Amino acid sequence: MFEYNIFENQLKSETFGRHLKYFQSTDSTNTEAKIYLENDDSHGHVIVTKNQTSGRGRRENEWISTPNKSLTFSIILNQKKIKNKKLLPIISAVAIIKSIQKIANVECSIKWPNDIILNNQKLGGILIEQKKNYMIIGIGINVNENYKDLNIKIKNISTSLRINKTPVIKLESLLACILNKLELYCNNEKIDFINEWTNYCLHINKKINFYNKNTIQSGIFKGINENGEGIIKINDKIELIYTGMINL
Ligand code: BTN
Repeated sequence: MFEYNIFENQLKSETFGRHLKYFQSTDSTNTEAKIYLENDDSHGHVIVTKNQTSGRGRRENEWISTPNKSLTFSIILNQKKIKNKKLLPIISAVAIIKSIQKIANVECSIKWPNDIILNNQKLGGILIEQKKNYMIIGIGINVNENYKDLNIKIKNISTSLRINKTPVIKLESLLACILNKLELYCNNEKIDFINEWTNYCLHINKKINFYNKNTIQSGIFKGINENGEGIIKINDKIELIYTGMINL
């Protein structure tokens, strides 16, 4: 059950989340969003479920969540209607971190390009897909799971807010807070997102391993540039890489 009253009370945005489609269960909110896009002009529309059965992660990984305990949603954005399109992965990560800080009073970190990390384990992830003029931002966060709820495949690498002693959180409140911040950030060219992101990044000036074109490379992570590309020093040469997955 989705508690619309809680969500609506906390939603302060103009457009983001004002149209919301809730599924009791669906395979993937990103996939639903793609289907939904066939028929609608859907800027700011949100697809959310409390039971995602076949969630998709980056690099064709699966994203496993727990019914009624994980936050899993997607927001559809018309590229022409946002100012910071190139920085969407950066903005999304900052919006999530700040929302968790506000709702749960917990400070998470970021692993490039957009893993949300708590106590060195994965708390959340972002999958951004593009279709026609639209970007679909899919966000998954482990919120109220106890350790026993985590699937065996992710037990050793993942965590949740609850495992880190946070009181049970209303998924609707966290969702509304993220949407409020995302809307603000997508249209604001004055906030220094690069600096914000860098302050939360776990591995500035550290050696990282990352996937690039299906191979694992390593280098020293120097930060991100104004296009949201990772700046990585590989054998004394600076390379710019837009996305990738890092193993610290
Ligand atoms: C990753 O870290 O690999 C990205 C995970 C993204 C998961 C979210 S959950 C909501 C949305 N629907 C999906 O199928 N995936 C994203």
